[in-house]
Amino acid sequence: MQQNSIETRQLEALLDFYLEAGVDSFPGDDRVDWFELTRQQAALRQQGQEPRPAAQAPSGPDTGSADARDTRHSQFAPPVKTIPAQPIAPSSGQPAVIPDREIVGAARGLAATAATLDDLRSCLEAFDGCNLKLTAKKLVFADGNPDARLMFVGEAPGRDEDFQGKPFVGRSGQLLDSMLTAIGLDRSSAYIANVVPWRPPGNRTPTPQETEICKPFIQRQIELVNPDVLVFLGAASAKTLLGVQDGIRKMRGRWMQYPGNGKQIAAIATYHPAYLLRSPLEKRLSWRDFLSIREKLTSQ
Ligand code: URA
Repeated sequence: MQQNSIETRQLEALLDFYLEAGVDSFPGDDRVDWFELTRQQAALRQQGQEPRPAAQAPSGPDTGSADARDTRHSQFAPPVKTIPAQPIAPSSGQPAVIPDREIVGAARGLAATAATLDDLRSCLEAFDGCNLKLTAKKLVFADGNPDARLMFVGEAPGRDEDFQGKPFVGRSGQLLDSMLTAIGLDRSSAYIANVVPWRPPGNRTPTPQETEICKPFIQRQIELVNPDVLVFLGAASAKTLLGVQDGIRKMRGRWMQYPGNGKQIAAIATYHPAYLLRSPLEKRLSWRDFLSIREKLTSQ
């Protein structure tokens, strides 16, 4: 009994690990062209028809033959019951999309319609153009004060953020809070968001396509908050929004300008708190950056 329950726990841990790592479908022996399947399913939906589950989808020329496989099995071993490839139904019930220029254009158009931050949040909730939404638990839109003069932008939410639906609430968020406290601020005097508002599975780096699709939304978010000082946490958000190519060591601590809504916003990049947790010696440089941020806020 005891042993059984340990095995069950171990199996659950293994499944959790797979999910964390972004595995979201059971691999069968049949090869499935998910892009083609998604296209076919979307076309059927458009015609008002309910697509067949993936297991019954027609085999394309590229699909392995189940018959041939069964024959192979019967030659060497008792027949094995194979589990057909089947996607775990995404919570939204939406098929995955193929990221392309059209989707980036749609994201841009949608973000531009948002007149307020609440509108923008609703736009993101309605937007199905980013596949990260299919695996994320929650939209991580923002935290802090939308009227603040200081805005932080990170890269993408992690596990804790995904659970709570708020940016920077895990260990790196706690460090960010301490750094804010050190310059006499807190979340009531700052607004915090990410370039990508859905957690990439297993905390992997967002792909360039995912980043490109989400970019119009964070750009609109910055326009609507209209801060006086913009802080990029880590190189990724600075590279995406400022188009700079330097690494964070070169870029951090240097004041730049971000083209805002009718004004140039003072912008600076600093080390990501997650990096500081791994490299605590670098905190001294971040401390300089935070002092410079405080100085900028008081002098403007
Ligand atoms: N890292 C980020 O870039 N953003 C978060 O919200 C949390 C961790």
